[in-house]
Amino acid sequence: MNQELKKLDQLKNRTFSAEDVAKLYKEYAKMVKNYSAAIKEIQTKLEILDEDFQLMHDHDPIHHMETRVKSIDSILEKLQRKGFELSMESIAQNLTDIAGVRVICHYVEDIYTVAELLKGQTDVEVVKETDYIQNPKPNGYRSYHLVVKIPVFFVDEVVKIPVEVQIRTMAMDFWASLEHQLRYKSEGTIPKFIADELKECSEAIAESDLKMQRIHSFLQDIGHNVTLEAKEGAQA
Ligand code: GTP
Ligand code: MG
Repeated sequence: MNQELKKLDQLKNRTFSAEDVAKLYKEYAKMVKNYSAAIKEIQTKLEILDEDFQLMHDHDPIHHMETRVKSIDSILEKLQRKGFELSMESIAQNLTDIAGVRVICHYVEDIYTVAELLKGQTDVEVVKETDYIQNPKPNGYRSYHLVVKIPVFFVDEVVKIPVEVQIRTMAMDFWASLEHQLRYKSEGTIPKFIADELKECSEAIAESDLKMQRIHSFLQDIGHNVTLEAKEGAQA
């Protein structure tokens, strides 16, 4: 049995035909090329914004970024879970998280700065926007999610490609990584006492994020005033 068919057999409750899946595996290379290109476009936009913001405000909102193209296995699993048909058209129509960019910011305000600056660009079309910071998920998950479409210029075509952008602070990322790991290890169901503790941690983290934001804003203000005084002193 070849590798592809072995993988197919591992898929639980499989409803797709082996031929369809094999075809999709072949088409995946082209798909990866498109989604990788879209990730590069978004990442470059964000890097430029970060550097320009640093020059203007003496503060860089982005700590670092992580990117990924969803694996073919995760794509198949999601199509099956959501009951979508198995084809390139169905993937393009139904899955908006194949290209993913995670933006890790220093402070909560940075998240909104980054989101607004990206949304404000004329070639960026906002498809979906979810603020899990104002409205955290019941388990305590916090992040700002954007699905945007951007045009990518290839040799003989221009394709508008969706990218899921998750924007969060380092603290929110710390929580989400641990929660993801725990969920993965306990195969989807986290025991209630751990879920309750995780929720408490999420609230403690949100409180710390706000305190850190206040300290940062205070220091920025002092720095700003000191610079102003120095300038005025030099002019006097
Ligand atoms: P998916 O089917 O998981 O893509 O969910 P969705 O299409 O309804 O979108 P949603 O905004 O809920 O989640 C998109 C992505 O955000 C997920 O794939 C995760 O990367 C992240 N995410 C959402 N909820 C949680 C959560 O409770 N915990 C963690 N760790 N990550 C989450
Ligand atoms: Mg997803």
